[in-house]
Amino acid sequence: MTPTAYLVLSSVTVLLLSYIYYKLHPTPLPSIPYNLSAPRRAFGDLRAIKAQGRLIKEPSAAMFAVAKNLGSPIAQLLLTSFSSPIIVIDDPREVEDVLVRRNREFDRSPLTTRFFQPMLPACTIAQLTTPALRAQKRLWSDVMSNDFLKRVVAPNIREAARELVELWGLKAEQAGGEQPFEVGVDFEDAALDAICVAVLGLKMGVTRGQIDKVRGEMTGGHDSEAEDPFADTRSSAAILRKTLKYLNDIVDAGFTSVWPEFAFWRIRMSPAYRRFKKISDNEMQRLMAGACERFQRLEALDGETAGEELDTCAMDLVLRREIITARKTGEVKSDPTRDPAMLQELLLFLLAAAFPGPELPSAADIVNTDIPYLDAVIEETVRVVATAGIIARITVVDTEVLVAVREDIRSATSQAAQAKRTRGGLDGDSGHDLHLFEPRRWLTRDETQGGKEVFDAFALPALGFGGGLRGCFGKRLAMQELRILIALLVLKFEFLPLPEKVASMEAEEKLFRRPKTCHVKLRAL
Ligand code: HEM
Ligand SMILES: *[C@@H]1O[C@H](CO)[C@@H](O)[C@H](O)[C@H]1NC(C)=O
Repeated sequence: MTPTAYLVLSSVTVLLLSYIYYKLHPTPLPSIPYNLSAPRRAFGDLRAIKAQGRLIKEPSAAMFAVAKNLGSPIAQLLLTSFSSPIIVIDDPREVEDVLVRRNREFDRSPLTTRFFQPMLPACTIAQLTTPALRAQKRLWSDVMSNDFLKRVVAPNIREAARELVELWGLKAEQAGGEQPFEVGVDFEDAALDAICVAVLGLKMGVTRGQIDKVRGEMTGGHDSEAEDPFADTRSSAAILRKTLKYLNDIVDAGFTSVWPEFAFWRIRMSPAYRRFKKISDNEMQRLMAGACERFQRLEALDGETAGEELDTCAMDLVLRREIITARKTGEVKSDPTRDPAMLQELLLFLLAAAFPGPELPSAADIVNTDIPYLDAVIEETVRVVATAGIIARITVVDTEVLVAVREDIRSATSQAAQAKRTRGGLDGDSGHDLHLFEPRRWLTRDETQGGKEVFDAFALPALGFGGGLRGCFGKRLAMQELRILIALLVLKFEFLPLPEKVASMEAEEKLFRRPKTCHVKLRAL
């Protein structure tokens, strides 16, 4: 190399490195508060967020902490100039407005999609809003209809809840009513049982297996492996559970990396990921094939009564809708067992069911009876547990969000919504002491019904399921599930106070926030 060429090359290298170093310092947006020292540091707020995250094990709380320290309901988190700032809004009214009423300005954010991209790139939660996404959502829409939820899903959930009651009864007996025991996994099992039968028409029998196991322990542990009718579905459940664990394990890469795209690219390149993805995909294909077969058998019967078999599951609704759409558009119907969008959406449903935290009445009794305090408890539980630590959106056009919390500068839609909250919303009685669990904030007296106590769903902005076009698709199902589970459990058991060491409200956050421990101490009623 000639000296001149050498000089040019090294100058270019120095320039490039200086440029990169310069760009590692973040650039704030105008007129939104930020930590003034952040732009002067390479990687801005990243180190502070990471340190805080390690301390409290809740990455989303660490992000909110930056805003809290600035004493502002809105703040920017600054990383590098290679990416736009993350705007944190810690103001329920503004968040509700952005989610519910401003869908043209905001879309699902990469902060959410990136976690689902490696395993479930074709499912709705991993995608931005496009015409294809809307069609995909439409395909599944009947599944959350009131009729389907009440007629098909509710009885299945009730059956799962009944088995949970049976299991806890045995466990309480085993513990002699003295010892608290862990039930986090039991909730997951019951939720998996309920969703599998509701969506796929497949009885998983996960809780049934636990019941048999505990019963075996109590009667001297005879080995029931040989007569296990659920061996096959139990292996499906194990694969689903492993998939969920894998999804959770890769979350850290997205939260703490300066360059998450690279972190996730590396994951996708790893042999472990490929092996795992294959196992998971194959299992979904197998489950889908089973559901399709069942659907075709029912189609063949065409209206003849065949007892329980004719109780349709969600997959039946979706397959039927696909056939109708294909007939209308003249396109060939895709093979659902080879359609990634179909398989991955199904997997998302099965996994979403594993997230919720907690002579018996029938399902119809429970879903049709007006019990305002039960509704209030559920709403308050969803609010306090904050299953999704952050609800993330990306701006799709230039826009403004609150600059200061003055009523007159809120958006017109936000002001209109507040006017409809006759009890004052966050500024009224319901908004007191939001850090406390207080179901009564969701109750009010209805003067048109002689002062009867009623549930007020609009007491406060309810954000536990996100909202708007990209809000949680399973909300109605999840709320119904909570209603049936809680109703059966409180009717059957008295929940005794827990000893201090297991009575923790501490949470742990991966994909979702969940309790660190979940214990109960029960007396059967
Ligand atoms: C207590 C239980 C649940 C909670 C707290 C919850 C929460 C959430 C949240 C916060 C989001 C993001 C919403 C947003 O960005 O605005 C979401 C999305 C979603 N959830 Fe749930 N969820 C639950 C149960 C379920 C169940 C049981 C299903 C399916 C049967 C489900 C299916 C979905 C789907 C498909 C999306 C993506 C929707 C889209 O991208 O348009 N969820 N959920
Ligand atoms: C700004 O960030 C620095 C470094 O992380 C921190 O020590 C300081 O307390 C922050 N200032 C405010 C107002 O949060």
